[in-house]
Amino acid sequence: MKNRDQWQSKMGFVLAAAGSAIGLGAIWKFPYMAGTNGGSVFLLLFIISTLGIGLPILLAEFVIGRKGQRDAVSSIKRLAPGKQWQGIGWLGVMISLIILSFYSVVGGWIISYLVRSISMSFEGTGEDFYNRLFETVISNPFEALIGQAIFLLLTIWIVSGGIKGGIERANKWMMPLLFIFFIILAVRSITLDGAIEGLKFLFVPDWSYLTWSTALSALGQAFFTLSVGSAAMMTYASYLSAEQKLGQSALSVSLMNIVISILAGIVIFPAVFSLGFSPNEGPGLVFIILPAVFDQIVFGSFFLIIFFILLLFATLTSSMSMLEIAVAIGIREKYENRKKAAWLIGLITFVIGIPSALSFGILSDVSIAGYSIFDFADMITSKIGMPIGAFLVAIFAGYVLKKQDLQNELNPQVLATWRILIRYIVPIAIAFIFIQGLASL
Ligand code: PHE
Repeated sequence: MKNRDQWQSKMGFVLAAAGSAIGLGAIWKFPYMAGTNGGSVFLLLFIISTLGIGLPILLAEFVIGRKGQRDAVSSIKRLAPGKQWQGIGWLGVMISLIILSFYSVVGGWIISYLVRSISMSFEGTGEDFYNRLFETVISNPFEALIGQAIFLLLTIWIVSGGIKGGIERANKWMMPLLFIFFIILAVRSITLDGAIEGLKFLFVPDWSYLTWSTALSALGQAFFTLSVGSAAMMTYASYLSAEQKLGQSALSVSLMNIVISILAGIVIFPAVFSLGFSPNEGPGLVFIILPAVFDQIVFGSFFLIIFFILLLFATLTSSMSMLEIAVAIGIREKYENRKKAAWLIGLITFVIGIPSALSFGILSDVSIAGYSIFDFADMITSKIGMPIGAFLVAIFAGYVLKKQDLQNELNPQVLATWRILIRYIVPIAIAFIFIQGLASL
């Protein structure tokens, strides 16, 4: 029987965890959530939630995964035998597959944009043109479904290859390249005429947006970008050996996430205000604005192609971590079944995602509790599923795991601070924001 995989190097794990974290959450979702939730206040609450609540939970997931050395469900079972805590793992599977079902729709849009940018169908400029282009891409049922299917096929293909071959190698150079791109774009965006309005929107607080509903959105956003509450990070950490410094890894992943989110904001909002768009475009924001920014750069249409390739890659490093959770559980008895499991679970996800893919076109009239199908899938995962998952992780790590068991996992100072946070501050904060936020949805 084949053995379980292990990450090849310390850097390999940090990059993979960062790869899972950094994806559409920071680049696509952050700007549009900030755009519809008052910009600066959302950013502030997002940073507080990431460092104060998300980071301790991320560390908890790392600890559980590495101590467990198994898939999310078996790891928890092993750490708390005979109890029902492994439900956290199953909840994670559900959440991650629902996320993947709509995440792959957006992945499909990226593929559409990539193909269109290569075939030079970006002839035209101005607000109207970019809005119409996005409309065309998302509303055509064939384009949406084919894009989603190709994206899932790529995800399945990578996950079938196992962690060493697929994930680790590619992570090493694509992420830094994407980062450099973002810096260049940010510089271009803030040197546009009238860019200052966008920076004000992002950095000068308008306190009227300080509400429980914004707080819950920001908390959900922090969990979404950190991939916590979905068992993804637990699964990744289970491929770790004992030497890795978990505290440091968790902190760097959290900081990278914040930096990329802010950078995405600095790229998008100055351009929004300077080029006459509106910040509350919703899910289309990045797709509408980015091509417009590239339009302002020399060789823009060429760089746009490279950018979409990098974005596709960042998205795939996240989607593969979502699929990996269920695959790891599926193959716990037989590691050689990785390929079959990836295909089967990928196919199920595609089917679950069809209504989301069509919800911008032929199913656009269908609404659930006032949300479109796509928004509903996003809402129940980010605002309900992940907060519940994260809360349970906090309780499990804070009260079920014994202090003695954690001494080998974390150094004494980190352990002391983390334990106070995870036992008291984190669960109370989540419960409070969750209840207040849901009441005001
Ligand atoms: N963190 C990913 C992103 O920001 C999304 C994700 C959620 C990945 C849950 C894995 C699990 O794009």
